[in-house]
Amino acid sequence: MTLEAWYMDSSEEDQRKPHRLNPNQPVPLKELNQLGVFYWKLNADIYEADPELEKIRKEQGYTYMDILSIRKDTLPDYETKLKMFFTEHLHLDDEIRYILDGRAYFDIRDKQDRWIRIDLGKGDLITLPAGIYHRFTLDETDYTKVMRLFVGEPVWKAYNRPADDFEIRQKYVASLKAF
Ligand code: LAC
Ligand code: NI
Repeated sequence: MTLEAWYMDSSEEDQRKPHRLNPNQPVPLKELNQLGVFYWKLNADIYEADPELEKIRKEQGYTYMDILSIRKDTLPDYETKLKMFFTEHLHLDDEIRYILDGRAYFDIRDKQDRWIRIDLGKGDLITLPAGIYHRFTLDETDYTKVMRLFVGEPVWKAYNRPADDFEIRQKYVASLKAF
């Protein structure tokens, strides 16, 4: 079981569609790792008492967690939030998301500034590094339930692109050269 990711087409069509190139151009997990993206597959049916999740949280220091049901009738300010989520941005901290139900896409920029779409479903835990440009969308099923994890007191502030002058951005870009 692995994560599926691909390079995106540039069509302006519905953001919730897959937007694969034709032919499809997959991106292996190894390449995501080189961009600082990491991934675990867990059993989301037992998330409330999962020793594997506990182990990851302990090792990584993910002390904070909450759960969001992202759906029109459960998320306050649904339209506004989805628009914000899909606006390209970065954070000063890692973004850590565990999909408990439903599906979603995270899009990240590669080293050449191309969009990679990461296809997430139930049981997928993903971490995006501080300073990476990214965005988030639901797929055509219009629903996901996601656990947000954080090291210490959560800071959800997003800085929309351009944010190239941020120290965290420069640190991230420098970290890519190490590979
Ligand atoms: C976030 C996702 C949407 O910042 O990237 O919460
Ligand atoms: Ni984000």
